[in-house]
Amino acid sequence: MSRKRVAVLISGRGSNMAALIEAAKDKNYPAEIVQVVSNRPDAGGLLIAHASGIATEIVDHTTFGKDRAAFERALQETLEKQHIDLVCLAGFMRLLTAAFIKNWQWRIINIHPALLPAFKGLDTHKRALESGVERHGATVHFVVPEMDSGPIILQGAVSVHPGDSEEALAARVLKTEHRIYPLSLKLVAEGRVKVVDGRCLIDGLPVPDSESLMSDPT
Ligand code: GRF
Repeated sequence: MSRKRVAVLISGRGSNMAALIEAAKDKNYPAEIVQVVSNRPDAGGLLIAHASGIATEIVDHTTFGKDRAAFERALQETLEKQHIDLVCLAGFMRLLTAAFIKNWQWRIINIHPALLPAFKGLDTHKRALESGVERHGATVHFVVPEMDSGPIILQGAVSVHPGDSEEALAARVLKTEHRIYPLSLKLVAEGRVKVVDGRCLIDGLPVPDSESLMSDPT
C-alpha cells in the first residue's frame, strides 16, 4: 500500500510536527510528511521542517484580513498542489470553517492537550491544576466544526503531581502527545480507524482506555 501524503499545519514551535516527521522517517510508517504549512511566518517549526528537507509553505492569515474564506481557499490550494491525503493540525491556532472541514471529513486530525471532553479550548494545564484533577493528558481526535469535539482516536493520561507547576505538567503532557500523535496518524493512515455513530472504532474495537497509554504510571 502506498504511503499517505500528509500535511502538518502549525502556528508555533512544532514539537508535535517534529515527532510526526521523526516517526515518518521509518520507511514502514504508513504516512509521509510531504508538507508543513504555517499561518505564521515566524513559527519556529518551519525551521525544523526545513532542516528535515520538508517543503514548507506560509499562508499568512493576516494578509487576508477578515476574509476567512479567502484564507481557506489559499490553504486548500496549497494542500491540493501537494496532493495531500491527510491533514494533521499540530498547534495550529486558527479555527477552520465547517465548509473547509467538510472537504476533509475524517481526513483531518488534531491534538489537544487535555483529556477531552474535559478542558476544551486554551490554558488547559492551568485549568487542570485549578480544578484539582488527578489525571490529565492529551487527545488526538478527528476535526469537526465544533472546536475540540470530534471523535476521539487516542488519549494518553499522565498523573498530576502534588505541587505541580503549569510548566511541569505541560512538559509531562507533551511527552505523551509526542507518543500518541504518531501512533494515531499511523492508525488513520492504515485505514484502521472508522467513525461509527460519532465514535471511533480501531480495528472494529472501542478506543483503548487512556490509562493504557500513560507515560508515568506512578
Ligand atoms: C500542543 O500542546 C498541542 O497539543 C496544542 O498546541 C501545542 C503545540 O505545541 N494543540 P507544538 O507546536 O507541537 O510544540
